[in-house]
Amino acid sequence: MTDLVAIARSFFASGKGLLAADESVHTATARLASYGIPASEEMRRQYRNLFLGAADIEEYLSGVILFEETLSQKGSDRKTFPRSLAARGIAPGIKVDEGTEPFSSSPNEFITKGLLSLSERLEGYKKQGAVFTKWRAVIRIDGDHLPTAAAIHENAKRLATYARDVQGAGMVPLVEPEVLLEGKHLRARARAVIEETLGVLFAVLKEHSVDCAGLILKTAMALSGNESGKKDTPEEVAEETVAALLASVPRQTAGIVFLSGGQSPEQATENLAAIVHRAKEVGAPWPLTFSYARALQEEALSLWKGKEENVPAARAAFLARLAKVSAAARGE
Ligand code: 13P
Repeated sequence: MTDLVAIARSFFASGKGLLAADESVHTATARLASYGIPASEEMRRQYRNLFLGAADIEEYLSGVILFEETLSQKGSDRKTFPRSLAARGIAPGIKVDEGTEPFSSSPNEFITKGLLSLSERLEGYKKQGAVFTKWRAVIRIDGDHLPTAAAIHENAKRLATYARDVQGAGMVPLVEPEVLLEGKHLRARARAVIEETLGVLFAVLKEHSVDCAGLILKTAMALSGNESGKKDTPEEVAEETVAALLASVPRQTAGIVFLSGGQSPEQATENLAAIVHRAKEVGAPWPLTFSYARALQEEALSLWKGKEENVPAARAAFLARLAKVSAAARGE
């Protein structure tokens, strides 16, 4: 367990954070299509290589979360992506959940699948070089009706079973109960739902004997829903987010990373800076950083358009955003 604690803490070296490059084949296909890029296995390899093959990413990234297909693909250096990242001092991780399905007791909510074959798959991922793993659950807000306590609890149980098995296999679990941005709710409701979700999650993690010192929490920020017509200031987001975390996350947790969740790159950067600043101000006990997919990729993808000649400009945009997000993670 000492090793796991050291690995979990190493993700939080000053100003460093994670790139989530773990879109499933389905999501990656939709993402590429939204930029007019036709998808194929080779195109998805080039998509990953655009980010993972960029020079100097190790200045900003301590880890990258990969998808199964990407583990065995190779970058321009002819090494598999996990080996290439490890050679540059970036820890390779793997998304191990298998997506969501409607929850039988409440069909407008979702439960994450993937526990059945998990133990065998973990051994294989480890051999391919993964040192940490991610499991994502989604929590949907709809007025006062959703989420239901049953959906929060079922997702927490699966996250805890996953985390226990992953620690047992000698890898660091990253638990991600994502409270979605979609909806008409206001920031105070998002904060209450995050607090409740995390409160239940950490109670169930304890029941499953998961050691929080060797575990990373990935969470959403407390934001008004994207159909609320309300735009929160970074200070408002920071105050509510840090309050929700202080009320629900045990102090021994190795650290907390944030997802971008559909915020623009600029919003995700400014909100992170304000959260880190606020956390320092109130003496929050855990290190904080980013684990973004869309907010780190968006500007680069709109320049790349799937064309080799656009790779240098797209990588420059990615590096420029990484530098800004990294400064935000230091609270600057
Ligand atoms: P976004 O930053 O695009 O929300 O993605 C992070 C992630 O890993 C979602 O599971």
